[in-house]
Amino acid sequence: MQKIVVSGGAPLEGEVRISGAKNAVLPILCATLLADGPVEIGNVPHLHDVRTTARLLGGLGAGIGHDIEAGIVRVDPRTVDSHLAPYDMVKTMRASVLVLGPLLAKHGEAEVSLPGGCAIGSRPVDLHIKALEALGAEIVVEHGFIKARAGRLRGGHVVFPMVSVGATENVLMAATLADGTTVIDNAAREPEIVDLADCLRAMGADIEGAGTSQIIVRGVDRLRGATHQVIADRIETGTFLVAGAMTRGRVVATHARPDTLDAVIGKLADAGADVTIDGDRITVDMRGRRPKAVDIVTEPHPGFPTDMQAQFMAMNCVAEGTGTIDETIFENRFMHVNELMRLGADIHIEGHRATVRGVERLSGAPVMATDLRASASLILAGLVADGETVIDRIYHLDRGYERIEQKLSGLGARIRRID
Ligand code: UD1
Repeated sequence: MQKIVVSGGAPLEGEVRISGAKNAVLPILCATLLADGPVEIGNVPHLHDVRTTARLLGGLGAGIGHDIEAGIVRVDPRTVDSHLAPYDMVKTMRASVLVLGPLLAKHGEAEVSLPGGCAIGSRPVDLHIKALEALGAEIVVEHGFIKARAGRLRGGHVVFPMVSVGATENVLMAATLADGTTVIDNAAREPEIVDLADCLRAMGADIEGAGTSQIIVRGVDRLRGATHQVIADRIETGTFLVAGAMTRGRVVATHARPDTLDAVIGKLADAGADVTIDGDRITVDMRGRRPKAVDIVTEPHPGFPTDMQAQFMAMNCVAEGTGTIDETIFENRFMHVNELMRLGADIHIEGHRATVRGVERLSGAPVMATDLRASASLILAGLVADGETVIDRIYHLDRGYERIEQKLSGLGARIRRID
């Protein structure tokens, strides 16, 4: 199994080009199932989850063309002849559940394995199911599968009791082909929802309010093929900016979307970084200073993203002072804490709150990645630890970060992958 070895000590300096957003491209790939013609998606990051989604769509019968170098995926959904998302796909990638809405709306039928648990919590799909039922779907859950049927879906009023990115995406996609108007209240406002809506609109959908908590979808009879460029990955951007800040360096993220990162940029400034924005470039400059500890509370967008929690925790580990981190989105998303403590971090957990007292230095050790963003936090910690940090189970990392070792090496980090 592959591992990553990081030797700490060097401040990061330089420019890093940001890739397309994992959390945007996955729903967009699923949305192609709604079209009557080929859809071409650009700025697609080269990630394991993208390949898994392409395999899933291929398994449904769609034609897939993937030009990895050019970052383009072409999906021809006209040959889809299966409505089944099998267990071995969904268990490796929860986002597979996003084919449910499109298959149901386009083909009147879908059978999707229940995702089950994962490292960061139980993550149910009840909100997805209730929302699609509000559009007239008949859904049963049996033998580990969500089995959904409908004639043509009809517009309805969906009021989410809590904010869910995936459930908002599933019902948004389904509503585009429903008969009549759907109103989605308490919708997720993440930038990836806006990107999905932009792609659906390019396909001919009639959507208003994406990016606000009320989305209105007027159903249309058909959607056509289209082309779409995926938005920049705000979590990848934030990860590199934190890497710059905690190594006391200067990092410029290019091809980024600063407007999607307000909460993260605000916290970097609180940590003492000079942050400047120039078009699609974000610069974080610590001028050699030690970061100051920050308090974080994770919230749905536009609040501080849970997907940046582990990285900021890594920064707090070496910051001046004590910071608290409240995780309000996922239960059990502190799996990285024990690993960070193996590197010498001083962290105390009580319920949903981690209190991190900054230490002068971490010391390299073997650690194990537990989920995608936890892996990133361990790499960041390794960048400021004495000696070598060897990170095991890095397949999590390849699900969501494109060429992370090359990108970090380009900034002067001493990092390599070993078998
Ligand atoms: C998406 C992101 C993930 C991010 C998360 C929160 C993708 C592919 N993944 O995940 O990176 O961490 O948003 O920003 O975009 N919930 C229910 N019932 C449901 C659905 C969700 O109780 O039917 C709960 C979840 O357990 C969680 C909360 O709602 O506690 C938010 O989850 P949700 O926004 O749905 O996350 P995902 O869409 O799975």
